[in-house]
Amino acid sequence: MRRLAIITDDPGWHGARLTDAFGRRGYHACYVSLTRCRLYLGQPGIPVRMSGFENGLPDGVFVRGVPGGSLEQVVHYLNILHALKRLGIPVYNDAGAVERSVDKAMTSFLLQQAGVPTPATWVTPTNSEALAIASDELRGGRKLVVKPVFGSQGQGVRKLDTVDDLGRLVASNGVFYLQRFVENTLAESCDWRVFVINGKADGAMRRFGKSWLNNVAQGARCEVASLDGDLKKLAEDAVAVLEMNYGGVDLMLDSRGRYTVIEVNSIPAWKGLESVTGVDVADRLAADFLRFCPALPEERIAIL
Ligand SMILES: Nc1ncnc2c1ncn2[C@@H]1O[C@H](COP(=O)(O)OP(=O)(O)O)[C@@H](O)[C@H]1O
Ligand SMILES: [Mg+2]
Repeated sequence: MRRLAIITDDPGWHGARLTDAFGRRGYHACYVSLTRCRLYLGQPGIPVRMSGFENGLPDGVFVRGVPGGSLEQVVHYLNILHALKRLGIPVYNDAGAVERSVDKAMTSFLLQQAGVPTPATWVTPTNSEALAIASDELRGGRKLVVKPVFGSQGQGVRKLDTVDDLGRLVASNGVFYLQRFVENTLAESCDWRVFVINGKADGAMRRFGKSWLNNVAQGARCEVASLDGDLKKLAEDAVAVLEMNYGGVDLMLDSRGRYTVIEVNSIPAWKGLESVTGVDVADRLAADFLRFCPALPEERIAIL
């Protein structure tokens, strides 16, 4: 039986759904934490050591979670994923995709460069500069959001409405990420989450936040959404620009009624989406992942 690794520290519902979906296709999937992976170089044996795969590396690696830590620890975790890919093992989404999307600054840069609509954004490590940019924007009557560069689930995202809010302008670990607030004329605060697999938008939901923050983790309620032309195209474009096998794209409508991409997630949750669309997301991901994993001849796995 071929063996797959699901990279996670917290398998939970998503891990179980993936394991079941792989099992139905005849694959055994083991959970592996990146904290239990090592590089052992210049001696006999497999250069990448993964707990549970002592006798040979997996046939494919599905990334469901990269733990936090010091800069060196996170680089080590990503190095493991880079190394596996270099050894010829399919990694889904790979370390490059995770790096490009976990870092909101790089996501914004790549989207802007590719001409995918996304709000005006400033990233600077300098206090006085951030203050000058924010003052200028707020005095001009434009609102701002300030986000942790490596944030998720709406944590630490703040809104500045007027110059009186400048005291709330904070750096995250020494870097300011400022983004123009997307205003619209909708009666209720909401955004859209589109799930894209293998380049195709596969399902969408509208998330109605309790406040202007529309994350499910912040209590937003979800409704199934239709993939109207622009929503589908922009989500697919965003995932293509970030070179991901699959992704969750957050979009909002601006005051002119046009969609703009807020964020792209390389390790998106899908419980909310599945609950409103009925789509078996794990099954579709498993099918796509296995298409992405060609049969690996044993000799491709580097045992010195
Ligand atoms: N520029 C913006 N204008 C208006 N609302 C925003 C903006 N950026 C983020 N939000 C709101 O905050 C939520 C969280 O922001 P997001 O960039 O997706 O970070 P996270 O990784 O924490 O989900 C979004 O889902 C959206 O509801
Ligand atoms: Mg988000």
